[in-house]
Amino acid sequence: MTRHFLRDDDLSPSEQREVLDLAARMKQDRFSERPLEGPQSAAIFFDKTSTRTRFSFAAGVADLGGNPIIVNPGEAQLGAKESISDTAKVLSRMVSLIVWRTHTHAGLEEMAENATVPVINSLSDDFHPCQILADLQTIREQKGELQGLTAAYLGDAANNMGHSYLLGFATAGMHIRVAGPAGFHPRADIIADAEKIAAETGGSVTVLTDPAEAVAGADAVITDTWVSMGQEAEKAERIATFGAYRVTPELMAGAKGDAIFLHCLPAYREYEVAPEVIDGPQSVVWDEAENRLHAQKALMAWLLKESK
Ligand code: CP
Ligand code: NVA
Repeated sequence: MTRHFLRDDDLSPSEQREVLDLAARMKQDRFSERPLEGPQSAAIFFDKTSTRTRFSFAAGVADLGGNPIIVNPGEAQLGAKESISDTAKVLSRMVSLIVWRTHTHAGLEEMAENATVPVINSLSDDFHPCQILADLQTIREQKGELQGLTAAYLGDAANNMGHSYLLGFATAGMHIRVAGPAGFHPRADIIADAEKIAAETGGSVTVLTDPAEAVAGADAVITDTWVSMGQEAEKAERIATFGAYRVTPELMAGAKGDAIFLHCLPAYREYEVAPEVIDGPQSVVWDEAENRLHAQKALMAWLLKESK
């Protein structure tokens, strides 16, 4: 059966652990595994801009012995001239993987339904599961074990990162707290899915409004941009709405003394995080960015193995 990775809960807790273990091994020995030797190709579509995702997938596919084919907005027939399902059928005859950063999550589901090769969500409006694998790898490097740790995510809890933290961290058996203003809490069905997972893994899910309550005693404090790609028209309004969720040294002081700070990047030091935090000793954002490479290589290798 072809395996896809569209949402964080497409990996079971034990599968997520397997991918993270493989990611750690691949980080130790970067060029050891070459499942795309041939080279086999990967189609990598971008409907939105990117730095980390673009370079980590391109470099990652090359590290695995493969050939990355990057497609920028407007360069393929997909969308304007050709359906998602026809694209999926054609590409499945030519490439070994399809990676897609897009707007509507339903488009990814349609791609996966019609593809016979693994489809990976490299960010949709609703989820960013590749980023969460890199975050988990980073937290594990810093803290040893994931099970039982508490993470606080602040700001836009209704965006792709908020949703993916709920599902991915619950899968890892962590206590995930998200805090955002009224109207920016995660989708109810995703909260329910995460709660179900947490009940099995021993984790927990808490949705809050007060940032200080979320951060209290946490092992990791996390934020994201207040203005996601596609929301640029709402910028002024959003900056006013999320002001109280800025991660400052004062807010960080409420977390554990050895708490770490994560941000998927790109970061805005004038808005969601103070420079003293993101550029300070508790920040692990550069390891987090690097781990996109290792985590995604492990994911690709694992999906190819499982789809055989
Ligand atoms: N974090 C992340 O996905 O970065 P890019 O948008 O630069 O790919
Ligand atoms: N929430 C952000 C994540 C960027 C990696 C966005 O969608 O723009």
